[in-house]
Amino acid sequence: MNPAFSLRNGALHAEAVDLRMIAERFSTPTYVYSRQAITSNFHAYRDAFSRIQPLICYAVKANSNLAILALLASEGAGFDIVSGGELLRVIAAGGDPGRVIFSGVGKREEEIELALSHGILCFNVESEPELDRINTIALRRRQRAPITFRINPDVDPKTHPYISTGLKSNKFGVAWHDAERLYRRAAAMPGIQVRGIECHIGSQITELAPFADAMARLLDLVDRLEAAGISLEHIDVGGGRGISYNGESLVPMSEFADALIAQLGSRPYRLLLEPGRSIVGDAGLLLTRVEYVKRGETKNFAIVDAAMNDLIRPTLYGAHHGVLPVVPREGEALDCDVVGPVCESGDWLARERSLVVAEGDLLAILDAGAYAMTMASNYNTRTRPAEVLVDGDSVHLIRERERFEDLIAHERVAG
Ligand code: LLP
Repeated sequence: MNPAFSLRNGALHAEAVDLRMIAERFSTPTYVYSRQAITSNFHAYRDAFSRIQPLICYAVKANSNLAILALLASEGAGFDIVSGGELLRVIAAGGDPGRVIFSGVGKREEEIELALSHGILCFNVESEPELDRINTIALRRRQRAPITFRINPDVDPKTHPYISTGLKSNKFGVAWHDAERLYRRAAAMPGIQVRGIECHIGSQITELAPFADAMARLLDLVDRLEAAGISLEHIDVGGGRGISYNGESLVPMSEFADALIAQLGSRPYRLLLEPGRSIVGDAGLLLTRVEYVKRGETKNFAIVDAAMNDLIRPTLYGAHHGVLPVVPREGEALDCDVVGPVCESGDWLARERSLVVAEGDLLAILDAGAYAMTMASNYNTRTRPAEVLVDGDSVHLIRERERFEDLIAHERVAG
């Protein structure tokens, strides 16, 4: 657990704020984030790589709340986006579009237009037809579009198959062996300005080796491109390190940084990183209340007011999230699954845990700052949770709980 969350006087706190107070004021389920945890996670990258002054482009998809984007913008972060909507969020939060990189395999014309009109740092191009489309739009606008190619290095990141992205069989990036041809083509296009190279091999990678392998593949290509007279400004190594959800050991940040810096050697390129999970993942928790304790014939259930629509990672990826009672109590532990009210057997937040729980208790689902609220849905006509950001002893409501009216606002009864 991030040290910003701790047990104080018998109750779990976010920084100096008692989670019981948050539940009382904002009800449950509520996402609770720690400002201190987010900034210290960001600083961990900044400090470990400080010798080479990288640009850290926070991956907006991990958690796109405006307050979090504004906080990271104020720390000097750039942003990795995957849609026009994410660009508009960055701008609304006061982020600098000149520090925005645009990834994703399916960029629409209007999204390319929008990004060009705001002068983003570069498009991470994922296919040849996308290159042609960007060139055409840039020429129409009498601009040169800055690009990198996202290279698929065919490296196995040894993570969950749904979040592996750098294998030949994945839809992402251009093939490593085809990259030189594409760079030559791009360099000759009047609407394109080649700026760098990028790869992203997957998420929740806890070891160094896959990153180092991908970097080696990139550098091999970069050296060949230089020899061919195509010079680059930056090398972008993609998403960041994984986090420890269930006691996984992580490559220390200093080792991670030192290895990549050593590989870069004396080459003059600026390094870009696109971390998401490791900036916000352990900086958030989902605060939920136990509605019922149900003792079954073969299984027991703690039925809580949060569900798979609020946090889909457990059921989608079989992901483990720690669960802690906000006020640990004495008593006999119950072997149980922590489940929500949604009508699906897959609606579980945690399985086979041993908890001392009773109706009305508050639970904290840990490490729920990344890919949690951004993946929430309204399934079962459930309003999405509120989000609060704790800063010392203050609590800021950074997103109101959705209301039923919000859910039906865009619906029309036909006829
Ligand atoms: N850059 C690109 C191009 C990406 O696609 C991603 C994540 C990142 C950066 C950030 O990677 P990170 O530092 O967070 O590992 N929903 C899944 C994770 C999907 C990751 C998608 N791409 C989950 O909940 O585990």
